[in-house]
Amino acid sequence: MSADRQQIVIKLRQDHAYIVDLMQRITALCTQRENAENCEGCESGQRNICHENIGQLVRTFVEVTLRHNLIESAYMAELVPVAHRVAHNRAHMAIAEQLQAIRVIYAANGNGVLAIAAVERIIGTIAAHLAEHDRELEAYLLAPV
Ligand SMILES: [Fe+2]
Ligand SMILES: [Fe+2]
Repeated sequence: MSADRQQIVIKLRQDHAYIVDLMQRITALCTQRENAENCEGCESGQRNICHENIGQLVRTFVEVTLRHNLIESAYMAELVPVAHRVAHNRAHMAIAEQLQAIRVIYAANGNGVLAIAAVERIIGTIAAHLAEHDRELEAYLLAPV
């Protein structure tokens, strides 16, 4: 295994940890979800704070994840078998669609509760992706050349 490839794996793992952290931070932002279908139940000062925090974290999460997947796809171009690359890129496309949908939900109505619910739904998709496609990619990167 080359030092370059090891560096790539370290960088990808750091990205994954950051992405998981962002999702956890977003879902932890609202403490009123059991009582509310939207943000109307909270007083306006609280709503403004939430609105800003959720908006910023959702934007960061979507951008970081899209960029990470693009970087991963670029590494795959030379380093993995075609079958893995095709399946992995297809999975990235599906994640990108879900991420765009989250961004649209929040931009459209600023409903933090809905945005958090959408982030909660993508947690499972991303966890499965890490366990399947990204773990397989790591194995290719760490295999003796
Ligand atoms: Fe990844
Ligand atoms: Fe991936």
